[in-house]
Amino acid sequence: MNDAPSSQPQNGQPRHRLYGRAAGKPLSKRQQALIDDFLPTLAIPETAPGALAPISLFKPSTREAWLEIGFGGGEHLAGQAARNPDVGIIGVEPFIDGVAKLLTALEEGGTTNVLVRRGDARDLVAQFADASLDRVFILFPDPWPKTRHRKRRLVQPDFVAELARVMKPGAKLRFATDWADYANRALEAVMRDGRFAWQAERADDWRKPPADHVTTRYQEKRLGDCAPVFLDFIHR
Ligand SMILES: C[S@@+](CC[C@H](N)C(=O)[O-])C[C@H]1O[C@@H](n2cnc3c(N)ncnc32)[C@H](O)[C@@H]1O
Repeated sequence: MNDAPSSQPQNGQPRHRLYGRAAGKPLSKRQQALIDDFLPTLAIPETAPGALAPISLFKPSTREAWLEIGFGGGEHLAGQAARNPDVGIIGVEPFIDGVAKLLTALEEGGTTNVLVRRGDARDLVAQFADASLDRVFILFPDPWPKTRHRKRRLVQPDFVAELARVMKPGAKLRFATDWADYANRALEAVMRDGRFAWQAERADDWRKPPADHVTTRYQEKRLGDCAPVFLDFIHR
């Protein structure tokens, strides 16, 4: 089970190519048990493209459906879930160690408003119905700083268009990075799409972590070439 997510076709569509690690050091017994027994209880069903209304997966009193893409160790996701018990949050992450860390936090916290997909965000987002998400977080995605690797970055015009499709009018998108080139190119891609408005009015709006942000493990590592940049957008 400690393997990379399958690259088999999904819903008749080929899966995207994933770069980076899908597995690291061996899981502990407890982590493996969480992957084997707990993860299936939080799984998101495979559906036809565009068929899934994410809010329908949560209890009826759920106010909004949010998505965190590439949650890493899950600190932000678990933190937001605890702060927002009336929201249903879906996390998608291919790296099994990260999934196991999140599951540990969810079990210890008795969290009931999170669902998890181990896999590629692009495959999951393709399943969502039009205008079905209230909020999306993409926090410190893999930067791929070398020029020849930029094509591997998640935030590209095609994916921005998919996000625009699945987000409701008024839904919020937060992108954060500590790589200056990725910040600039992501801002350009999102603005070029034409369906998002950037919320920043002054430099502090992108230089300072937003009030509702939960610090992530990758953010703390400070591996980038600039201070963290937070770009908050609203879907028009
Ligand atoms: C640099 S880490 C940041 C993790 C976390 N957001 C944080 O700030 O600590 C980027 C994460 O994105 C995940 N990732 C990479 N490609 C992805 C994809 N196509 N879909 C979903 N997650 C992806 C990686 O496995 C990794 O955990």
